Amino acid sequence: MKNNHSSETSADALVIFGVTGDLVHRMIFSALYGMAKRGALNFPVIGVAGRNWSDEELRQHATNSIKEAGEIDDSDALEYLLSCLHYVSGDYNKPETFKTLKLALGNAKPAYYLAIPPALFATVIKQLSDSALVDQARIIVEKPFGRDLASARELNRIALSVFPEERIFRIDHYLGKEAIMNILYFRFANSFLEPIWNRNCVDSVQITLAEKFGVKDRGVFYEGTGCLRDVIQNHLFQIVALLAMDPPAFQGYGAVHNEKAKVFQAMRPLQPEDVVRGQYDGYLQATGVSKDSNVETFCAMRLYIDSWRWQGVPWYLRSGKCMAETVAEILVELKPPPQRLFDDSAPGAGRANYLRFRLSPNSAVALAARVKRAGKEFVGDQRELFLLDEQQIDESPYERLLSDAMLGDRALFTREDAVEAAWAVVDPILSKPPLTHTYKQGSWGPEQADELILASGSWHNPIVAKESS
Ligand code: BG6
Repeated sequence: MKNNHSSETSADALVIFGVTGDLVHRMIFSALYGMAKRGALNFPVIGVAGRNWSDEELRQHATNSIKEAGEIDDSDALEYLLSCLHYVSGDYNKPETFKTLKLALGNAKPAYYLAIPPALFATVIKQLSDSALVDQARIIVEKPFGRDLASARELNRIALSVFPEERIFRIDHYLGKEAIMNILYFRFANSFLEPIWNRNCVDSVQITLAEKFGVKDRGVFYEGTGCLRDVIQNHLFQIVALLAMDPPAFQGYGAVHNEKAKVFQAMRPLQPEDVVRGQYDGYLQATGVSKDSNVETFCAMRLYIDSWRWQGVPWYLRSGKCMAETVAEILVELKPPPQRLFDDSAPGAGRANYLRFRLSPNSAVALAARVKRAGKEFVGDQRELFLLDEQQIDESPYERLLSDAMLGDRALFTREDAVEAAWAVVDPILSKPPLTHTYKQGSWGPEQADELILASGSWHNPIVAKESS
């Protein structure tokens, strides 16, 4: 797959707004450290935030972040990264902050990473523009890109009033994961799949993203977000798009973006009867959470894609905090044979054949089919043939995505039309959310979610410990 960055040149400075924040602490410093280890960090990194820190304090903070994320195994790379770090302290509302930034940047062609709440995007973008800091610059923005369709359109309008679309890099870190990139490769590098990959042979598709842990110290964030906005409208929908898209017309990521956008446009807007919202028992006691909160920490849905390929096939998506496992998995269930010729075969005896993609914590692709047991009787078992079975995922999506954004490679970023179309699908639920059902911590969510999938059978609950070929 060719990348479309031949006309773009690399940025030569990275400016991180919100450098003292949680995202940078958890993800970005260790990604920059990874880049330093690979020799791919060849630009200064200027952090901007309100706290009155010195360069030295930022460096200490970065060192602590990297230590928390894992061990420091290359002290030269760490030293080098720290020497690249600089700090600009200031209020985003004040032009002086941007004057100081301009001095720090000199003639560099920067990438501005907005690791700040979306409510501050407009202020920062306007100040950059007023300070003549946007010529040849690019911006990198984090999900969730907006809170709903109207705010996403408004953010796009603001961003596009200053930066052309090809200089806006919208991050969905799921697109930087190996196991998710493999969906695209697996689908279009093989020919056996295409004849069955449609409404004629696929009965239903399930995607589960479960997490054992709760909202931890992110109660305030979660109260303003909820599961649907946090991971479904973006991460899970991106997976759906890769699974459902038609073959790209040519070898280039522009073609992939075109086909993905069509999937979002063909998704049927969700209705309340397609969605079950849940809240884990104990959420209301988390710091920053309102005592009568109706915010969902679990969401399950039945989604339809009204396209030639997928008409009538239900896509079941669910995600939640405080679930039984920390795991992400896709199950594409095929239709059973038209006639039941053996007592133990589908239909009517368990799951039909399927393809299973384990996305995390390990990476696997398995194809399940029935085979006969040796003996007189015509009985058998469903066996999984593992096409891929990797126990370790040694990946850092942010390392990949930051490097790509610096290089100007837009392949793994989301496009304006796709983001807006995805919001349009969830908007009816966001504007009128059904009530949440309480579920036990360590469960697979509220039982109402089981009813949602009843017409297609039951949820497949992935087990982590048992995973092996
Ligand atoms: C983030 C969400 O975007 O994705 C988190 O804000 C969630 O709530 C996380 O836990 C899941 O990502 P990953 O890579 O850990 O599966």
